Amino acid sequence: MALINTKKMFEKAFDNNYAIGAFNINNMEIIQAVANAAKKNNSAVIMQVSKSALNYANPLYLKAMVDAAVADSGIDIALHLDHGPDFETVKLAVESGFTSVMFDGSHFDYEINVQKTKEVVDFAHEKNITVEAELGKLAGVEDEVNVSAENATYTDPDQAVDFVSRTGIDSLAVAIGTSHGAYKFKGEAKLDFARLETISEKLDKAGFKKFPIVLHGASSVDPNCVAICNEYGAKLDGAKGVPNEMLRKASSLSVCKINMDTDLRLAMTAAIRRFFALNPEKFDPRGYLGEARKMIEDVVDGKIKNVLGSVNSMN
Ligand code: G3H
Ligand code: 13P
Ligand code: ZN
Repeated sequence: MALINTKKMFEKAFDNNYAIGAFNINNMEIIQAVANAAKKNNSAVIMQVSKSALNYANPLYLKAMVDAAVADSGIDIALHLDHGPDFETVKLAVESGFTSVMFDGSHFDYEINVQKTKEVVDFAHEKNITVEAELGKLAGVEDEVNVSAENATYTDPDQAVDFVSRTGIDSLAVAIGTSHGAYKFKGEAKLDFARLETISEKLDKAGFKKFPIVLHGASSVDPNCVAICNEYGAKLDGAKGVPNEMLRKASSLSVCKINMDTDLRLAMTAAIRRFFALNPEKFDPRGYLGEARKMIEDVVDGKIKNVLGSVNSMN
């Protein structure tokens, strides 16, 4: 057990047709919930931190709590920067003890994305830190970048090969129809699996064997959880996520990392809204934060068992 980078995690995941869950962490209860669920399933896990989370919680606190989670759970955990917007944020994460970083230059022109991503790779690899980068644009809100549905573009497979070979990244986040947030599809959910397979085939042919693909915007937005939120005062009509079968299929293909934040936010909100509504006389934060932690733990447990397939990946 250790705080490790993602290299070995992804090799095992690719070979055994599962994916590692990457859960966004913002505070102690979320970290404990993710670690407890990972421990219960003997599963490796990625805890990821956005720039807004760094600003909210302070990297010193987050790193110390994730170290505590490793010690307490005995599970391999990667501490990953999610959607790093610039070199300075990557540097801050690396200097704070993160083991893996994402540089997200997907909103820049292609050549700029290549150049900036390569700078991050050169810096990070020297320190044994793995690097994820993104090509193509997901619709929705992603860490201070808001991409409208019209501006979303799917990843071009030939460009993906060029991008991986010129930057030297360790994993590639692709746009195949997912989006960030709780409103992913207006009509039927649809992902471009043919594109995903073409990207991986072309990478394989170009010599990038078993190259790990990352799926962002992959929360499933459980209707029961949304219903609890709405029953106790939320207004989340029309919320819709990626069906679990699609995520399971992606995990069995080249997708080695599946990102989920919205599902944890919804679980936390459902638990706290319900607690307040049912216990108007109570005001001890351990009451409602404890319920929230339990509900997040159950969500992560379900993901590991039913979506990711990473049970016993620590063996
Ligand atoms: O993809 C974005 C993640 O959900 C993080 O969101 O910037 O609000 O922490 P955040
Ligand atoms: P969701 O909004 O679907 O949870 O996606 C989270 C994500 O991609 C974080 O990088
Ligand atoms: Zn994302």
